[in-house]
Amino acid sequence: MHIYQLEVLSNVQVSSRYWHMKLDASPIREKIEPGQFFNIKCADDDSPFLRRPFSIYQINKQEKTIEFLYLVKGQGTIRLTDVSAGDRVDIFGPLGVGFTLNDDWDTVLLLARGVGIATLAALVQEAAVKHMKCIAILSARSYDDLLAAQTLKEFGAEVYEVTDEDGTSDVDKVQQLIEQLLIANDINAAFTCGSRRLSRLLQNMTRMYNIPAQIALEENMGCAMGVCYACVCDIQEDNEIKSVRVCKEGPVFDLEKVVLA
Ligand SMILES: Cc1cc2nc3c(=O)[nH]c(=O)nc-3n(C[C@H](O)[C@H](O)[C@H](O)COP(=O)(O)OP(=O)(O)OC[C@H]3O[C@@H](n4cnc5c(N)ncnc54)[C@H](O)[C@@H]3O)c2cc1C
Ligand code: FES
Repeated sequence: MHIYQLEVLSNVQVSSRYWHMKLDASPIREKIEPGQFFNIKCADDDSPFLRRPFSIYQINKQEKTIEFLYLVKGQGTIRLTDVSAGDRVDIFGPLGVGFTLNDDWDTVLLLARGVGIATLAALVQEAAVKHMKCIAILSARSYDDLLAAQTLKEFGAEVYEVTDEDGTSDVDKVQQLIEQLLIANDINAAFTCGSRRLSRLLQNMTRMYNIPAQIALEENMGCAMGVCYACVCDIQEDNEIKSVRVCKEGPVFDLEKVVLA
């Protein structure tokens, strides 16, 4: 991992709450895995002082670009919207452990909510390269927040959209949908990000159906390098609860092992 000053190719608002930023990634020599993230300095003047973590949304190896999709939430992301094409953004990474996508899997199930959709998009891109079928359930407050659905469809994913605004995103309804999909498809693995409730549901269902599953966890971060322990979460291994750092040992973990409070 390194600090890079990457040129901004575009940084535009794509819905009422989300922005999309594309950077020239030609200086980056390291391989970037879906599920990994960069810690981004959101403004030149150290306000906010701490960087903010963002998952890789898309990687374009031919064009040598990387993209981020971000929700404008607080001080950092508000300042990030000030960045324009031609500016340089100070980014640190790639960081963390990404997703594992076994070559012998044919069909995978994705379950994402909110910004979790941004984290799983690069995985769909990688699955398309491996000619794997992706079935994605995307959950959000409103259709306006489901802008990444089109990107996933363009990579060949079969997308199911559920929203709070039309009453289709309740855990019970999502459970019924997952059950139908598990019966109709031979699903080899499952992935989730963005919601504790939905992650708990997927954990229960993948245990029941004996399907391996991975989760990308999101925790507030200080250093993103494994030093400050701001980002710890619990995992259960060999009947023992262990504290792990989301920035260093994660953000992707075996869903079976994660203690979801
Ligand atoms: C691995 C990972 C990947 C992510 N990927 C994405 C993504 O692709 N897209 C996306 O939209 N979001 C993503 N997120 C979430 C994103 O990092 C947060 O939404 C972002 O940090 C919000 O920053 P903010 O300043 O706008 O919001 P705030 O709410 O102002 O700040 C974010 C958090 O930083 C902490 N913080 C802020 N200021 C301080 C301070 N002075 N001292 C100590 N702590 C402080 C707070 O605990 C606060 O909750 C990801 C998070 C993680 C961990
Ligand atoms: S953010 Fe500092 S240890 Fe993870």
